[in-house]
Amino acid sequence: MSEANVASIIVVRMDDPSQQTADENHSARAAWDANAAFWDAKMGDGNDFFHLLEWPPALELLAIHAGDRVIDLACGNGLTSFRLAELGAHVIAIDFAPAMLDAARQRNRHDRVDYRLLDACDADAMATLGSERFDAALSNMALMDMADVGTAFRSIARLLRAGGRFVFSIVHPCFNNPASVQTAELVDDGGTFKTVYAAKVARYLTPFRQLGAAMDDQPVPHPYFHRPLQVLFKAGFEAGFVLDGLRECSFAPGTQTGTSPLSWSGHFSEIPPILVARMRKR
Ligand SMILES: C[S@@+](CC[C@H](N)C(=O)[O-])C[C@H]1O[C@@H](n2cnc3c(N)ncnc32)[C@H](O)[C@@H]1O
Repeated sequence: MSEANVASIIVVRMDDPSQQTADENHSARAAWDANAAFWDAKMGDGNDFFHLLEWPPALELLAIHAGDRVIDLACGNGLTSFRLAELGAHVIAIDFAPAMLDAARQRNRHDRVDYRLLDACDADAMATLGSERFDAALSNMALMDMADVGTAFRSIARLLRAGGRFVFSIVHPCFNNPASVQTAELVDDGGTFKTVYAAKVARYLTPFRQLGAAMDDQPVPHPYFHRPLQVLFKAGFEAGFVLDGLRECSFAPGTQTGTSPLSWSGHFSEIPPILVARMRKR
């Protein structure tokens, strides 16, 4: 391909945000599909983040009743889908990575879970699930991995009955975004040396996309789509939701599940790496 042709393709894509989003979504899907076996082996039935920071507040905010119809958006290996079903919910669990769904069907098969290959950023595909037929929706640790969160919010709004709740957890965009770092500094505190642990944030207000890893040794980095809170929640508000629950979750002092002293579980109990929100359809 000549340089002229390359230049013209780049110009077309920059002029066409929807094509750019489609390309980003495509590469996100390829990365998650490639990482699925690793993810399933390492995540298994849940890690420290899941058991201590994500699932307890998600459960509290979701307040599942037996018989609830729930959609589990970006279900990964089915960790949450199975648990929702065990609580008596009827679950449709979707993910866009075929290998993730294979893992889910093997590890977390359940009579009340219907696993489906669907892209949350594809409005037409999401519309095939119907409308106003779900009581609740969950998306555990996935909205920051989605190229087009506006379409995801609108699709969930369409699927939920009036008053239905949408609970999601994400990496906290203020403190645990792809451009933030955990630091340790030795400080002279009036004659006593002590180590101060902090999160340093270099970028926040402008949305950006950056490759990263959800877990150590992840085979293929996947794209993170950083959005400041005002951008993320605006997408929910514009889709017809109100925010009616919020938890900012950190590890309790003294918890040390990671191997590095700079792991979130070590010394960062005042800084929440995870945010869990409940939005309700008006
Ligand atoms: C960090 S994993 C979380 C998986 C699972 N919810 C959990 O808590 O273990 C993110 C998941 O989002 C999925 N995903 C990302 N974008 C998606 C999209 N547009 N539609 C459906 N699934 C998507 C990925 O395939 C991956 O399984």
